[in-house]
Amino acid sequence: MIRKNPMFIRTSIYSFFLPIFLTAGFFMTPHEPCSAHGHDHMDKRFNDAEKWALKFDDPKRAEWQKPEETIKALRISDNDQIADIGAGTGYFSIRIAKKHPQAKVLAIDVEPDMVAYIEKLAKKENLSNVQTFLVSPTTVDLKLPVTVDKILVVNTYHHIPDRTKYFKDLSPYLKADGKLVIIDFKLESPEGPPIEYRIEPAQLREELKLAGYEQVESLDFLQYQYFLVFQKLKSAPL
Ligand SMILES: C[S@@+](CC[C@H](N)C(=O)[O-])C[C@H]1O[C@@H](n2cnc3c(N)ncnc32)[C@H](O)[C@@H]1O
Repeated sequence: MIRKNPMFIRTSIYSFFLPIFLTAGFFMTPHEPCSAHGHDHMDKRFNDAEKWALKFDDPKRAEWQKPEETIKALRISDNDQIADIGAGTGYFSIRIAKKHPQAKVLAIDVEPDMVAYIEKLAKKENLSNVQTFLVSPTTVDLKLPVTVDKILVVNTYHHIPDRTKYFKDLSPYLKADGKLVIIDFKLESPEGPPIEYRIEPAQLREELKLAGYEQVESLDFLQYQYFLVFQKLKSAPL
């Protein structure tokens, strides 16, 4: 009877499986801007700002995004501090900073490349009222130097995991009479993420109620997106 050396067996197993693991690893490496969790839209990566700028800053977007009207609807006053969460390439951060030079914009994103892109743009446009913040996607580790008057979340709400906790943690950064504005894609919109990742206003209201906010306004001038305004509940849930 031939008895195989256990060392030989182990080596054979490794040499058989190793190429398979390496090949699988190659194909599983995210070549597209998706995370290691696969093609889950929630975890989608936005790590090539120049590339995303072609989409986010496409002049055609203005037809449905109506940036002027949207910024007007935010009712920004001089000296307001506005946190733009998921600022991306700065579509709103830069426009707000230009339109309201007395206000301060805190452009917040999880992608170093997006943050660097906004910094470069703000410098080029000579906008000293934009400050960038690189944050983690799950914990609100903003350590903002101020409490803000407005928090703006455009097309980003659906990317945030555990939103009730996230917005509960965010609450101390918003002034008592401050406004949280969520703009995101309607279910029937031809633009936006896959339908299964869109969040309907009723669900959003529920999540934010549990986080200690109440809806105070809903504007319907955007064709593809809802525009919901929230304020902190006077007696926030624990
Ligand atoms: C679809 S883009 C929207 C960009 C911008 N608000 C706009 O309207 O053009 C979503 C952005 O949110 C960022 N993001 C995703 N999850 C985030 C999170 N948990 N906190 C902050 N930013 C996040 C992404 O990196 C990306 O830049």
